[in-house]
Amino acid sequence: MLEVIVLAAGEGRRMNSAYPKVLQPIGGRAMLLRLLSSVQRLDPDRIHVVVGAGAEHLERELAGSGCHLVTQTERLGTGHATAQVLPHVGAASRLLILPGDMPLVRPSTLASLLELDADLSIVSFMADDPTGYGRILRGDDGRVNTIREEKDATDEERTVREVNSGVLAARADHLSAWLEQIDRDNAQGEYYLTDCIALAAAEGRSVQASIAEAAEELLGANDRSQLAQLEQVFQRRARRALLEAGATLAAPETVQLRGEVEVGRDVFIDANVTLIGQVTLGDGVTIGAGCVVEGARLAAGTCLKPYCVVEGAVTEGPCTLGPFARIRPGTRLAAGVKIGNFVETKNARFSSGAKASHLSYIGDAEVGAEANIGAGTITCNYDGANKHRTEIGPGAFIGSNSALVAPVRIGERAVVGAGSVI
Ligand code: UD1
Ligand code: CA
Repeated sequence: MLEVIVLAAGEGRRMNSAYPKVLQPIGGRAMLLRLLSSVQRLDPDRIHVVVGAGAEHLERELAGSGCHLVTQTERLGTGHATAQVLPHVGAASRLLILPGDMPLVRPSTLASLLELDADLSIVSFMADDPTGYGRILRGDDGRVNTIREEKDATDEERTVREVNSGVLAARADHLSAWLEQIDRDNAQGEYYLTDCIALAAAEGRSVQASIAEAAEELLGANDRSQLAQLEQVFQRRARRALLEAGATLAAPETVQLRGEVEVGRDVFIDANVTLIGQVTLGDGVTIGAGCVVEGARLAAGTCLKPYCVVEGAVTEGPCTLGPFARIRPGTRLAAGVKIGNFVETKNARFSSGAKASHLSYIGDAEVGAEANIGAGTITCNYDGANKHRTEIGPGAFIGSNSALVAPVRIGERAVVGAGSVI
């Protein structure tokens, strides 16, 4: 049996936030959820999450995740947090313990830790700046003796660059025996999980640290500047994945990826573009400079000119949008649709070849094929209490500055003169 324990009860005072630290986002998703996706790839028998500070927020985020939540009522340290879970695990289970603020760890790194043949194994890494981490202290024979927390370390110990990532694996019965022996006699007055290392080593148990090659995946975030650093690592990774998938990024370091992006081949993304949530870009899609695209599926050949904001929309074929178009949720655009500058659409379906080229609001509407909506046309969809629909027939021509007061239906090939109120 493999059981995972994620420690997520800390308040993360250094974040200075109303929310638990592990819910701070990296790449638009809570750190804890990113970590859990990696952990799930190991196919563990059970995942326990220790919650405490802001537990109600965590309960909401984890509802339906299948994780077992254990409450730590007093935050007395990582050792104490782990001990809260032990009554719920099998005595012979292998335990993998992780801090909740480690969003970038790769499943393969965790898998190789589990392959080590040791009574207690940890993942360490060589930090450029070890500040804040527990230092790995090795004996003359090179074996791991102790982990010394920063606040308890001597000046000399602080110069050690090999640090504890916070990931630890051991059998439940061993761990339980060690945790019973630890105390709070240290600089922070906490029960340190890391004190188990010295106890195990003193008992003659085998303790191994696997030194991870890529330190950046093990970085934790205790404060906002570390969070910003992790975000950069995430962004670099995510941009690399897009480039490998066949997208061109005109200025990679200016593109922000805050979700799961899927791209076809020969997608072009210009400078200062932000992609949020689930975004799918078909072959040859062009995203102009400064666009923000959230939760959208853009069909092959769709062209967003600069500075469009597109949210919750679908294009079904090549369309041209913008510059400066605002496409809101529920917009569906068929092939050949043209939405021009300063046009807002919401909950609107445009059939093939329909056009709204300038300065319009089209909401709760059905626009027929090849219909042409003149500049300044507005669907008056809201009467102060309810929303109503507008239907514009195929081939209809709506003159500039018309107000279509819904519910209203404009017939096929109808012509509305400029400045009409219908
Ligand atoms: C811990 C390690 C340190 C390691 C570092 C890696 C200890 C004592 N120290 O230090 O060796 O280098 O992680 O990032 O383990 N938590 C609880 N309950 C508590 C206290 C903490 O659930 O009572 C949770 C926190 O929410 C957090 C995790 O445990 O997710 C780690 O706690 P944190 O305070 O960040 O530990 P560090 O000081 O970073
Ligand atoms: Ca930490």
